[in-house]
Amino acid sequence: MTAKWTLDTQTFKDNIQHVIQGQPVMAVVKNNAYHYGLDFAVNAFLAAGINTFSTTVLHEAVRVRELAPQATIFLMNPTTEFAVLKENDIHMTLPSLEFYRQYQAELSGIHVHMEFENLLHRSGFKTFDEMRAVIKLDEQRLQHEQMHIRGIWTHFGYADEFDVLDYNDEKSAWLTGLEAMLADYHFDFVHAQNSASFVRDGLFAQHTHARLGIILYGSRPYSNLDEKVTVQALTVSANVIQIRTLGAGESAGYSFAYTADKETEIAVIDIGYGDGILRTRSQHDCLINGRRYPIRALMMSHLFVEVDDKVKQGDTVILYSNDIRIDEHTFKGVGANSEQLSALNHHSLKKEII
Ligand SMILES: Cc1ncc(COP(=O)(O)O)c(C=O)c1O
Repeated sequence: MTAKWTLDTQTFKDNIQHVIQGQPVMAVVKNNAYHYGLDFAVNAFLAAGINTFSTTVLHEAVRVRELAPQATIFLMNPTTEFAVLKENDIHMTLPSLEFYRQYQAELSGIHVHMEFENLLHRSGFKTFDEMRAVIKLDEQRLQHEQMHIRGIWTHFGYADEFDVLDYNDEKSAWLTGLEAMLADYHFDFVHAQNSASFVRDGLFAQHTHARLGIILYGSRPYSNLDEKVTVQALTVSANVIQIRTLGAGESAGYSFAYTADKETEIAVIDIGYGDGILRTRSQHDCLINGRRYPIRALMMSHLFVEVDDKVKQGDTVILYSNDIRIDEHTFKGVGANSEQLSALNHHSLKKEII
């Protein structure tokens, strides 16, 4: 008996088609493809016809190149390892006028996508005029010294927010500025939309790709979406290793982690925060034999779950599956989908790809 991280390949692949509906997509595969596994995810996306990828770290981009010789690969964070970019034909963000000024010579021959900062304020040009200035400066260089300005992009910080108007503001700032840029320049790649924006608005006109992450991985970006929009192919399961009976007033776990107020059956489960189950997750249920039971305490390698006489030693306990999803718990406040996915410990959980 061991706790497992199980990924259903066919479900994952079918879901990609279901989500993208034939639209052009740049798959975000950063952080080991949201911890689904870079190789697994890239191969699945390729099989689904996606041939454009983005990540934030260069070594992942290089690995994508090994897996996908024909793909367009976009590095969303800047790097100064220009030779590696060239060697592997990796496009990179151009994050600011200052970056261009500092690395003008080294940027020669590099494929860049100019980034608009917008309301996220994480990276990017403050204004479209600064982008125009860079285009002009670069045009003044000898042709063989110029960059290849291939794309223009932004990232929305508020597309999954409905209580504030910031998404409308950032969308309008981007679309207005973009329209003016496109009147004067051509870009092979125009991309802005994350999962939430894509689901809300569909692919914007004049955009070449939606830049999708979480929805491709089976979690909804916001709560008032039907679960059917994306299917979770991942199951995290464990086992009932013992059943203990606690008398009224008896405690179990370290430092009175749980105290029974009546005689209570407690199942001891072989998974814990050491396997990456977030602490806040233990305020909610798990699934045993198709029924939900409340988790009462979380330790490094164990959980206590309050059960009834239907639960037996050896039963399988589901922490996450398409019936008890990661996104359900995100919306209950457990932590972002990607936070729980990233935390799962691939060394202690038995990893199975079926
Ligand atoms: C720059 C950028 N683009 C796209 C995405 C994908 O976002 P999502 O996972 O919400 O689709 C991310 C994820 O954080 C990102 O940082």
